[in-house]
Amino acid sequence: MTPATSSIAPPGSQSVLVGRLSSRGKLLGLIAVSSTRRGAFSEPGQMELFVDISNQAGVAIDNAEMYKRLEETFWSTIRSLAEAIDAKDSYTRGHSDRVADYAEALARKLELEDEMLSAVRCAGYLHDTGKIGIPDAILLKPGKLTEEEYSEIMSHPVISHKIIEPVDFPYEVKPLVRHHHERIDGSGYPDGLVGDEIPLGARIIGIASND
Ligand SMILES: [Fe+2]
Repeated sequence: MTPATSSIAPPGSQSVLVGRLSSRGKLLGLIAVSSTRRGAFSEPGQMELFVDISNQAGVAIDNAEMYKRLEETFWSTIRSLAEAIDAKDSYTRGHSDRVADYAEALARKLELEDEMLSAVRCAGYLHDTGKIGIPDAILLKPGKLTEEEYSEIMSHPVISHKIIEPVDFPYEVKPLVRHHHERIDGSGYPDGLVGDEIPLGARIIGIASND
């Protein structure tokens, strides 16, 4: 036994098979099986089976890593969009990050499914992106807003919805973004939804954003 295999095989091993875990020509690691029986892997077909399993495991590990990278890219893209709106309004800097954190914490407390946790986090980042479409003179106005200016501000959930409309999210995000200013009694906007008509995730964003 070489020093390399002795560190892979447990004490008392008499037979060891070591294979490569690779995918797309890239070595990802090694896989080993061992037995306390001498000549344990000499039966016909065993070596081929081991090679098949090694190959499939290599591809599965590679796919899992690629999925993880894609997911990281997804979240960093979503956060970039959120930062674009936070950068426009210094008063609310970091607002989208906080809403995403609070919304996910609320959803977790309600013991909602993982998919819903991701949906509210994502909607938390994106809910106010529509403010990009509101003129700075209104968005950053220090004094009281006129009725007309306020109705411009009230258009931001619809603009947010339009911005994310082309995105095919893996879970329901768009209704959460559109309806984050609805109110249980129907006094909210943009659609004046009442009670249970408002998606649960949108109610969570509404509470977490409190704006
Ligand atoms: Fe909002």
